[in-house]
Amino acid sequence: MSDNIYIHGTEGNEQQRLATLNNMTNKSFLNFIRLRKTDSVLEVGSGLGLLAKEVALMVPEGKVTGLEKSDEQLKSCPASVPNLVFVKGDAHNMPFEDNSFNVVYCRYILEHVISPLKVLNEVRRVLVNGGSLFIQENNILAIEMYPECPHFKKAWQKFALLQYELGGDALIGKKLYSLLKKCGFKKIELSPAPEFHYYDLETFKPWVENLIGNIEGASKKLLEYKLLTEEEIKEAINELQNFITLDNASTYFYWNRAFARK
Ligand SMILES: C[S@@+](CC[C@H](N)C(=O)[O-])C[C@H]1O[C@@H](n2cnc3c(N)ncnc32)[C@H](O)[C@@H]1O
Repeated sequence: MSDNIYIHGTEGNEQQRLATLNNMTNKSFLNFIRLRKTDSVLEVGSGLGLLAKEVALMVPEGKVTGLEKSDEQLKSCPASVPNLVFVKGDAHNMPFEDNSFNVVYCRYILEHVISPLKVLNEVRRVLVNGGSLFIQENNILAIEMYPECPHFKKAWQKFALLQYELGGDALIGKKLYSLLKKCGFKKIELSPAPEFHYYDLETFKPWVENLIGNIEGASKKLLEYKLLTEEEIKEAINELQNFITLDNASTYFYWNRAFARK
């Protein structure tokens, strides 16, 4: 696998952005997954381990395993939670026996892998028969802003294109049903996780700053791949910085969720 497929990188500022995104989206995700306190749970692509740590509290008589390929992310994971372990490995070829987990979840990971189909086949292999899979993924173009932000919109489309050129898929969220069916999962249920942020909410500024961070974090590669000019990046970022100050501004998005059983 190419090393640079992970569009966000693992530098300090990107880890900080991921931590902020966890702050904004963990509570809702924890309400989405259904767990028994004895469950053996796997998170695929566990990043900084922040979500896995909260999931570990929900299975006090079970165990949570975080699978992560990056040493930098693994170094930042919480230590000394008794029922939580992190394992280094590649989601395409998981270092686990067949039928090892009752529950597997994937959040913000399938967009970053070379073959989501291969990863989901691995998920199916390591799940017990009847085990549950919970997914929350991205289709980054499912975003609306008002007042309109044409410079950001253009940059965001190029961001999606960059992710595709790196080997990932920024639109993977809308493909979950098709992928899960192909892998033979049963009882598939799709749902949206809405994100409505507007000027009067405390979440508005961090949400838009997260968009800015995405573009800033990818700006070197956007230039390298000649997808945007420095001027276009600057215009997009300035537009979002101004958007944060508009007392009539609102933005809408939804994550794509899926539940399925083996
Ligand atoms: C956007 S982060 C999400 C982390 C975590 N799931 C969360 O929701 O906070 C995606 C993580 O997946 C990891 N990752 C990407 N490709 C992977 C692969 N093939 N195998 C294992 N981990 C991978 C990245 O290193 C990164 O830490």
